[in-house]
Amino acid sequence: MNRFTGKVALVTGSGRGIGRAIAIRLANEGANVIVNDLIDDENAAETVKLINATGSKGFFIQADISKVETLKHVIDQSVTQFGSLDILVNNAGVEVHAPFLEVTEKQYDLVLDVNLKGMFFLSQAFVKYLVENKRGGVIVNNSSVHEELPFPNFTAYCASKGGMQMVMRNLAVELAPFNVRVNNVAPGAIKTPINTKLLNKPELLASLQNNISLGKLGEPEDVAAVVAFLASDDAKYVTGSTYYVDGGLTFHYKEQ
Ligand code: BGC
Repeated sequence: MNRFTGKVALVTGSGRGIGRAIAIRLANEGANVIVNDLIDDENAAETVKLINATGSKGFFIQADISKVETLKHVIDQSVTQFGSLDILVNNAGVEVHAPFLEVTEKQYDLVLDVNLKGMFFLSQAFVKYLVENKRGGVIVNNSSVHEELPFPNFTAYCASKGGMQMVMRNLAVELAPFNVRVNNVAPGAIKTPINTKLLNKPELLASLQNNISLGKLGEPEDVAAVVAFLASDDAKYVTGSTYYVDGGLTFHYKEQ
């Protein structure tokens, strides 16, 4: 499939994990991709290398997307690099494990600033560019099953993801007249660096797998495939929706 020939995509947090898989998937289908991450390291360079190996082009922009004042520059630089910008994937995210009674203001701010404020204002900068240039576009946010499902000890994370759900729904309505579609993908437990601790603890892993209908964790590529669908014209009548990629985790229920 070559659904993105001539298109340009920006994927935040694409130095590794799900973001990298999304960047490569879009590149495989013809998009030139702006890779963004907080740190300019070998991971970011590797993502760009993998993109270039597909025959599409990759370019890295280092930026902390929680810093609102830098976001217009990220959009401008993306457009300068490849001539336009059509697809924004708000993927960058962090989580902090802490019982509610122990969450610090610093932890709360980190999670909300990256996951929610970042996607909010980067989307705003992107859509300003689209409207000024009379172009349509697509936004796909990498949310989580926890935009809906409680996750004890991750209340700040749930607040950010619940917020992403409502931002997405609002923008779908408000931006439809500008020919901008907005959707979320909601991954469950996926094998990525965010889950390193869990992946290294066999007993935790076993109990989690027992709560997933398909009985195993997902791969970053499983999420990337759905993001590509939502970003493509195959989803031209899809806006305001969350697509779950969770192996059945969210509605898993069985009596032993
Ligand atoms: C979190 C993971 C968690 C998964 C399923 C994701 O949003 O980032 O840490 O394992 O949800 O609960």
